[in-house]
Amino acid sequence: MAHSLRNTASARPSSSLGDTVLQYGPVTRLLHWSMALLFAWQFLGMGLRLALGRTPLVGFFVGTHASVGSLLMALAVLRALWGLANLKRRPPHGEGLVALAARLGHLGLYGLMLIVPVLALLRAYGSGRGVAVFGLPVLPGAPEKVQWMIDAGNAAHGLLAWTLLAMVAGHVAMVVVHRHVWKDDVLHRMAGRRTATAQ
Ligand code: HEM
Ligand code: HEM
Repeated sequence: MAHSLRNTASARPSSSLGDTVLQYGPVTRLLHWSMALLFAWQFLGMGLRLALGRTPLVGFFVGTHASVGSLLMALAVLRALWGLANLKRRPPHGEGLVALAARLGHLGLYGLMLIVPVLALLRAYGSGRGVAVFGLPVLPGAPEKVQWMIDAGNAAHGLLAWTLLAMVAGHVAMVVVHRHVWKDDVLHRMAGRRTATAQ
């Protein structure tokens, strides 16, 4: 798919930091892979909490959860803005049902990347606790309890977070399918050497 793209003019990024129709640029890649690591941290911590209960190791992960989650939310906002700015010169998904599924899948990932931390922050505000990010008070608590914010967070934060994990598993599975079944690798768009023009 990507290999058949031979549009050398639009393959050149307008800046070396931006995306091209062949590959994602360094900013997109940095955001994608650093956020993937931070998500792995969040899910590992919460998975261990479910599996082991309250142990010192779990306590360590739980202690960083709100800070890392808030950082992820800020990065997701930056990433969405960067994605919009680069929308016209990103690697295309082509036409048809698979392309539509890829587009909707990425959109769904963005939606969950934003709503999952927003629900937790809403709950932290509504409960009056507020949030400190790596020790820095960033969000104050509400002066009085706001029950609907607490209820929304309790009902949906964990549930949607696990849904996000399931979608990420599907996302990674599709990367493998592209590479090994359909033989139209998409991984090179997000990883490996970048080329300035089409091969
Ligand atoms: C995108 C970032 C985040 C991800 C992926 C994430 C993921 C998760 C997961 C998987 C759970 C376990 C749910 C369960 O026990 O079944 C959880 C729980 C929790 N998270 Fe997050 N979280 C994120 C951001 C945040 C933020 C920013 C805060 C605080 C401001 C927060 C506070 C909590 C709390 C208090 C719990 C325990 C109560 C509950 O299950 O809802 N999380 N989170
Ligand atoms: C080992 C883990 C991962 C691998 C191998 C992987 C691989 C890829 C690849 C190859 C692409 C380019 C696909 C294309 O252009 O059609 C991509 C794009 C994307 N990935 Fe991942 N990914 C991983 C983890 C994640 C995680 C954890 C998230 C979010 C929670 C995520 C969200 C996205 C999104 C939204 C895109 C669209 C481009 C963008 O706006 O950044 N990925 N990924």
